[in-house]
Amino acid sequence: MMICYILRYVKVVFIIWLCLIESIQCKPSFEVLDPSYDQKNIRVIKIKDKGKLVYIAKIEDQLHQKKYCVKQYYSEDRIFLSLKEVLISRIAESVGIPVNCVRLILAETPFPCKLYKKRIATLHTFIPGKSLRNSGKYPKVDIKQFIRGSKILGITRSIIDHMSLSANLAQIVALDTFTGSTNHSRGNIYFDEESNDFYGIDLKKAFLENLSRSACENIKKMATEKKFTSREIDALKIYRDTLKELIAKNPPGDICRHLDTLLKEAQLKKLRYFFGDKYVYLSQNKFARLTSNSIKECKVMVFQNYDSAKKLVKLLDEIIKNYKK
Ligand SMILES: Nc1ncnc2c1ncn2[C@@H]1O[C@H](COP(=O)(O)OP(=O)(O)O)[C@@H](O)[C@H]1O
Ligand SMILES: [Mg+2]
Repeated sequence: MMICYILRYVKVVFIIWLCLIESIQCKPSFEVLDPSYDQKNIRVIKIKDKGKLVYIAKIEDQLHQKKYCVKQYYSEDRIFLSLKEVLISRIAESVGIPVNCVRLILAETPFPCKLYKKRIATLHTFIPGKSLRNSGKYPKVDIKQFIRGSKILGITRSIIDHMSLSANLAQIVALDTFTGSTNHSRGNIYFDEESNDFYGIDLKKAFLENLSRSACENIKKMATEKKFTSREIDALKIYRDTLKELIAKNPPGDICRHLDTLLKEAQLKKLRYFFGDKYVYLSQNKFARLTSNSIKECKVMVFQNYDSAKKLVKLLDEIIKNYKK
């Protein structure tokens, strides 16, 4: 009797612990991708078929009451961007950064709302709220670390100022710095009035720039120009701590191996666009133009950004340690 009671207690504690891990680490279970899941439970909410680059369908898993977005690029040449979204999402999940979680829907997997039935698609957890572009609440907040046409690359004083609004924003900026991501413009950052917080979507533009190196240069310059305020230092602490975790949990070799696994899963070879060192079916130049960078360039960027991120953490450690109010 006593043993039964203890076993039941242990089971309950274990289940609570699993739920906590899932919510803390932002590791959703994506039940809809389980081969045993009955897809009749999926309801289509809305289809957005007018974008320049992507087709998006909002769907609901009525069985588990969860919402998702199915995303496919119109052009088959941009499939590498889908893989980058999964890659960056996994990196974000490793430390619980609030961006949408993304999984691959394989080419051979039938799934409702796939516009191109025989191509890969991505499945994204649904982010509630409105984009900063569409919500009137924060008209000035912008954390994008790249301004086309100007020379701005990497974190700026104004980004640090915006980071101090919420830990979520500081974490997203750290993710972008670590992964060289330049796509979190106001249209890709969401504000949810219910939780009163910010979330990121659209992770396709990654490992294009060494934003960690730019951050080192920019922060050194900022420190000599004007003393940081204590608000800015608090934001920089979250930024640094998130970078530390990202560095500890995502060694560059692991990121590249994960990318290789995704390339294999996506079977890009069959689609003629596999770009490991062995299979080249399209000229490197054309591929680089279509996907912003080649797989080789992407991997070089993974290592460069990682090295610079370690230097950036050292610099931030020093600035934070020596800070006097
Ligand atoms: N995870 C998501 N949650 C909620 N809405 C999303 C999500 N992903 C995409 N969307 C919607 O689809 C639009 C386009 O998706 P996005 O990933 O930003 O691609 P792109 O900017 O290349 O068109 C977004 O502006 C948003 O309205
Ligand atoms: Mg977008």
